[in-house]
Amino acid sequence: MRRPFVAGNWKMNGSKASADALIAELKPAVASLAAVDIAVCPSAVYIAQVVNAVSGSAIAVGGQNLCDQAGPGAFTGEISAAMLLDLGCRYVIVGHSERRALYGEDDALVAAKFVLAHEAGLVPILCLGELLEERQSGATEAVIARQLDAVLALPGGVRALADNAVIAYEPVWAIGTGLTASPQQAQDVHAFIRQRLQASQAGLGEGVRILYGGSVKADNAGELFAMTDIDGGLIGGASLQANDFAAICLSAVEK
Ligand code: 13P
Repeated sequence: MRRPFVAGNWKMNGSKASADALIAELKPAVASLAAVDIAVCPSAVYIAQVVNAVSGSAIAVGGQNLCDQAGPGAFTGEISAAMLLDLGCRYVIVGHSERRALYGEDDALVAAKFVLAHEAGLVPILCLGELLEERQSGATEAVIARQLDAVLALPGGVRALADNAVIAYEPVWAIGTGLTASPQQAQDVHAFIRQRLQASQAGLGEGVRILYGGSVKADNAGELFAMTDIDGGLIGGASLQANDFAAICLSAVEK
């Protein structure tokens, strides 16, 4: 049995005041949901504050990105895995499509960060997803395979996945657009990812949690999470509202 997991990706949103207000509302709203793992991933500048705010609850905290160098050293503007751990992070998102599209992160860089995060003691959440034109041209599985294989090619990548690493399937055309993959569209890709994990190493397929991300809301989370291979969600916009995020977490419990 894979334990459901819901993570909120706050992206570059929020302020000191809104982060405190969101966590203050979220804590009581999810206090009884012991059957689901819950995490929030604030902007790095608010991580220390959010770690403090979630204390006394089961809500974990994650980073949104990390440096591809272990450091410490001369990497201006970067944040190391060790620093995220030092602040109290458990998770880190790796290879989000916005990092890939806007900041030039390629498959090899993402795979290196994924391994580095795991080796430092973080739980990496590897984002995979195809562009609209890739889906329309029938290239979805080829794109997902290419992104996943970059990680599976590294012994440290396989070790991370065999340990506790998480995958998030986020079709790029569904992110922030209000267009959600249908439950069956999402399930098909999740099953493909699981089969590919299994083919790479026996037993790997069944253990890895695969989250769906892309316009997950309180009113569609239930039907997505009901699918066999969808183990929870990576939530953008709806994670900025405590009530909506709590309702999505509840849908994962009810899976
Ligand atoms: P939305 O839920 O806003 O579509 O964002 C999804 C996402 O990118 C989570 O990482």
